[in-house]
Amino acid sequence: MPVYSEKVMDHFQHPRNVGEITDADGIGELGNPTCGDIMKIYIKVKDNKIEDVKFKTFGCGAAVATSSMVTELVKGKTLEEAEKISNAAVAEALDGLPPVKMHCSNLAADALHLAIEDYKSVKAGKGHIAKVETCDHEHEGLDELEHA
Ligand code: FES
Repeated sequence: MPVYSEKVMDHFQHPRNVGEITDADGIGELGNPTCGDIMKIYIKVKDNKIEDVKFKTFGCGAAVATSSMVTELVKGKTLEEAEKISNAAVAEALDGLPPVKMHCSNLAADALHLAIEDYKSVKAGKGHIAKVETCDHEHEGLDELEHA
């Protein structure tokens, strides 16, 4: 069984910002091609800052912990700052993840970036971006899901 840091266990057992924002300004939804789990992140934007953020995931404990950490890291940040937060930075903020669980951490920051993209697309009058994508990390034999 993988060994988790105390921070991972804390965020897994007491996840922050779980839920849905019904009038979200941007939504990012992402499937993890390695395990098939799904992550959804909702953001509320005001004055170019992430005023509120919530997540829902069908992922495992590591996915819950990374999402919880991402929401804490980006709340109150500008969109530009939030865009710079990488999957690796999130794993680092959690004091690391077992190698076998690193793929789970790809979901959270990527879904957040998609939510920002979605917000920008709507703001530019181009409507919502495709709802579900698979993350763009290298995984063999999986094609991107196509959704209208
Ligand atoms: Fe699917 Fe962790 S096993 S997100």
